[in-house]
Amino acid sequence: MSRPRIFVTRRWPAAAEAVLAERFDVTLNEGDIPLSLPQIQQALNSYDAVLPTVSDKLPAGVFEGDVRARILGNFGVGYNHIDVAAAKARGIAVTNTPGVLTDCTADLAMLLLLSVARRGGEGERQLRAREWHGWSPTHMVGTKVAGKMVGIIGFGRIGKAFAKRCHFGFGMDVVFHNRSPVDPTEAAGYGARQLPTVDDVLAASDFVSLHCPGGAENRHLMNAARLATMKPGAFLINTARGDVVDEEALIAALRKGVIRGAGLDVYEAEPAVSEALRTMENVMLLPHLGSATEETRTAMGMKVVDNVTAFFEGREPPDRVG
Ligand code: DGY
Repeated sequence: MSRPRIFVTRRWPAAAEAVLAERFDVTLNEGDIPLSLPQIQQALNSYDAVLPTVSDKLPAGVFEGDVRARILGNFGVGYNHIDVAAAKARGIAVTNTPGVLTDCTADLAMLLLLSVARRGGEGERQLRAREWHGWSPTHMVGTKVAGKMVGIIGFGRIGKAFAKRCHFGFGMDVVFHNRSPVDPTEAAGYGARQLPTVDDVLAASDFVSLHCPGGAENRHLMNAARLATMKPGAFLINTARGDVVDEEALIAALRKGVIRGAGLDVYEAEPAVSEALRTMENVMLLPHLGSATEETRTAMGMKVVDNVTAFFEGREPPDRVG
């Protein structure tokens, strides 16, 4: 029997590509250049499965042709780049890769928090530019982290892992907002306490970290009004999705000193990053590195392989989201 034909939109770590190729008739995007909409549509019309990732856009229109694909095995936990309802309407299954990137994404949020608090990016830029003239009691003084309040928006796996790091690792107090109530005993296990609204969390926090999904329901959750609710000396950390923050409003808030700084790993129009952000000293900017470790990216690939294998063996894929 012929093996299912699979198209992978971007290169994966070698170990995961190798396992995929053992099981399926695989076509790779050898040059690893992001695909255009027509190229994605072409792949959907020619292959039994397409394995996309966050750098691909799959709006409803790409599913309108003579689609052959029966499953989209997304490489990544976030899937707001896929119109899942439109895929589902065409009978196409969608899966993601939860769990395996929890620690690394929480670590990266911590890296951003520490960097903005302690002016890490700024200090490195100064030193590399040969502008550091030696230690002094007032040189690049930052903000202490221990004893401060961190507010988490979205208390899923990554939000919880981040809470643990903040509380048990760095001696911070933690409050959070989550759409559904979290049992207080469970929350206490992460050193955290739930507050009723997003605004309550923003008003209470010295650092606010976003861990909710992107997409329509959370688009511009952090808008001008919400940014104004934050404490004047507070910092915003975003490792979730760029569209959760109104980037123009954030730039205005940073310029006016409504908040003190921001640590960002994701952007509204990534990979484009606004010139305004790039020239600000009080922001730490990373290029969407949340899950970027050898171990995690390999594990993500293996999860996609598991999902697609289950699907073509007639079993329910473990991580089906649509
Ligand atoms: C994720 O898995 O959602 C990461 O942000 C990469 O897409």
